[in-house]
Amino acid sequence: MQKITQAYLEDVLQKSRPYSQKGKVASYIPELSEADPTTLGVTLIECGGESYSAGDHEQTFTLQSISKVLSLLLALEDQGKDKVFSIVGQEPTGDPFNTVEYLETEAKDKPFNPMVNSGAIAVSSMIKGRNVDERFGRILDFIRQISGNPNLTLNEEVYQSEKKTGAHNRSLAYFMQSIGILGPEVEDILDLYFRFNSIDVTVHDLANIGCLLANRGKRPGRNDWLVSEKYVETAVTIMFMAGMYNASGEFAIEVGFPSKSGVSGGIMSLVPGQMGIGVIGPAIGNRGNSTAGVQVLKTLSDDLQLHLF
Ligand code: DON
Repeated sequence: MQKITQAYLEDVLQKSRPYSQKGKVASYIPELSEADPTTLGVTLIECGGESYSAGDHEQTFTLQSISKVLSLLLALEDQGKDKVFSIVGQEPTGDPFNTVEYLETEAKDKPFNPMVNSGAIAVSSMIKGRNVDERFGRILDFIRQISGNPNLTLNEEVYQSEKKTGAHNRSLAYFMQSIGILGPEVEDILDLYFRFNSIDVTVHDLANIGCLLANRGKRPGRNDWLVSEKYVETAVTIMFMAGMYNASGEFAIEVGFPSKSGVSGGIMSLVPGQMGIGVIGPAIGNRGNSTAGVQVLKTLSDDLQLHLF
């Protein structure tokens, strides 16, 4: 079997670069359209062991939908499973991440799952705090802790850009208010959602978060649990079923480990008990996932035999 070395990782990255041409940088959030589509970087951290990085691994980018896993974990810690899943479903979807249609035609009382926009907006309403600042402060602290990076901050430009152009997410939120999923604080919930999508990270941060989840919520090499094991189990299962949007089935078959993508081109992955991986490649395909990033993960999965089944 292939051994992980620096040279090997560089080679995987080089071979995956052409795949960025199959995608385009997201432009529906204006600030994201400024990213360089040829950027490609990866960090792989073996739990409690070596760390390897290649390419543009120091590049910062915003969490976007990767934050959906983190807000879910905090909401589960705050409210427990029964309460969270009383307002959001647990089923995968073949529909796009920002679908409006499903809410009206089939869901009636619940968005599909916490990984689509409507589900994540509903989950945001479950995060405790007296106001948006306090709630955001709690989620930022939580992400700083589980990534091991106390310097993570909000990207003000991306946040303002999302807030200004977030009509689609507003329509989802107001529809959810009309059917009783959200209360009167819709604008506050949206504000919180836009903020935690706009936290700047690098692939190192994503790989560290992946490692913590791969280690079931316990900090590798230490004895302290940063997230409850039972909630890690829930979040990772949902990542496996729905983390790559309406490409989750194909990704599960081809790559075979839990991952979560975002429109900025980041992907956070984990191989249970083994490693965390972070990838950035801002050119995304028509289902919202980094085209070169997915290729990096597929190659790693094949060469290192990481598929879970
Ligand atoms: O709400 C949005 O549309 C973005 N802030 C995040 C969406 C996202 O990352 C979906 N990803 N593929």
